[in-house]
Amino acid sequence: MKILAIETSCDETAVAVIDDYAILSNIIASQIDVHTQYGGVVPEVAARSHIEVMLPVVETALKDAKCTWNDIDAIAVTRGPGLIGSLLIGVLTAQTLAVTKNKPLIGVNHIFAHAFSAFLTEHKPKFPILALTVSGGHTTLSLYQENLEREVLGTTLDDAAGEAFDKVAKLLGLPYPGGPEISKIAKLGDKLAYKFPVARLGRESLDFSFSGLKTAVLRQVQEIKATSGKDDLSTQTTANIAASFEHAVVTALVQNTLKAYVRTKPKSLVIGGGVAANSYLRQELLAVLPKAIFVPPVLCTDNAAMIGAMGLQMAQNGMYTQPSELVANPVLNDI
Ligand code: KG4
Ligand code: ZN
Repeated sequence: MKILAIETSCDETAVAVIDDYAILSNIIASQIDVHTQYGGVVPEVAARSHIEVMLPVVETALKDAKCTWNDIDAIAVTRGPGLIGSLLIGVLTAQTLAVTKNKPLIGVNHIFAHAFSAFLTEHKPKFPILALTVSGGHTTLSLYQENLEREVLGTTLDDAAGEAFDKVAKLLGLPYPGGPEISKIAKLGDKLAYKFPVARLGRESLDFSFSGLKTAVLRQVQEIKATSGKDDLSTQTTANIAASFEHAVVTALVQNTLKAYVRTKPKSLVIGGGVAANSYLRQELLAVLPKAIFVPPVLCTDNAAMIGAMGLQMAQNGMYTQPSELVANPVLNDI
């Protein structure tokens, strides 16, 4: 089954064509350059940029896949959660194409798709699947059943993991998006240089909290600047703070994932979302849970192939939507 998938929930205009779980094309038009100058994503700018490139990206995805519309069996699109202006461009495009090209339509939850991106690897997960989804907007531990039901076991009470990376990077004077920058400089630092707090939310809890950690980093940076009388941090100090911060985030993620794994005994464990591209997280998690499935970094950050993978699962469960009934939902929670 060939699916053309569209993803526009944030600042990437992405279109992919998948043939079952084989990726025929995976085009990602990133707006990072546009948003870097503002230090983060500006929703109105994101929506306008999606409009400009949406149809050319669809055309390129078809061309790269060596497909015409005749070859496409269904269209899948992210309908939430995300920025409403951005979601609307993808949803309206998919609705229009579904009607004009006469294709069945599938509305996909972006967070589910991050977990199901693992189906695009050679290690296909088996149900029940425990998924740690760590992105710029979400940090969730969920258990997925074969009928695509999801039980949320734990979630963040404040900042998402990726958001914490982005905010701390800003504090350290590193560019947006902060995750890859922190990861890069942390490799030069000492993770034990500073002891940043890992939130303790009770023995039974699988929730996360990163706002205290972010404040602790802010206080540390202020103290160093006050003591040195300088407005900048040295490269080594920046690297030490980055490494110590990354260590605290990863410790929290690994601790709860291990607890959830022991509690739920899943057949597979998958790690998805932008922060799953983090090499220290991979190293530490694989050390305790060697069977964890990590997808390649290009499938961790936002992409449309993962929307196709989730769309395929939904198609197999007959979960289609009439074009006139598809609604973009910025706070979508269920499937
Ligand atoms: O999944 P994603 O592309 O978009 C959302 O759905 O939010 O995740 C983006 C997030 C950003 O916060 C970014 O800083 C973070 O993922 N990220 C990383 C790394 N690469 C991307 N965080 C830590 N280490 C990385 N290597
Ligand atoms: Zn995402």
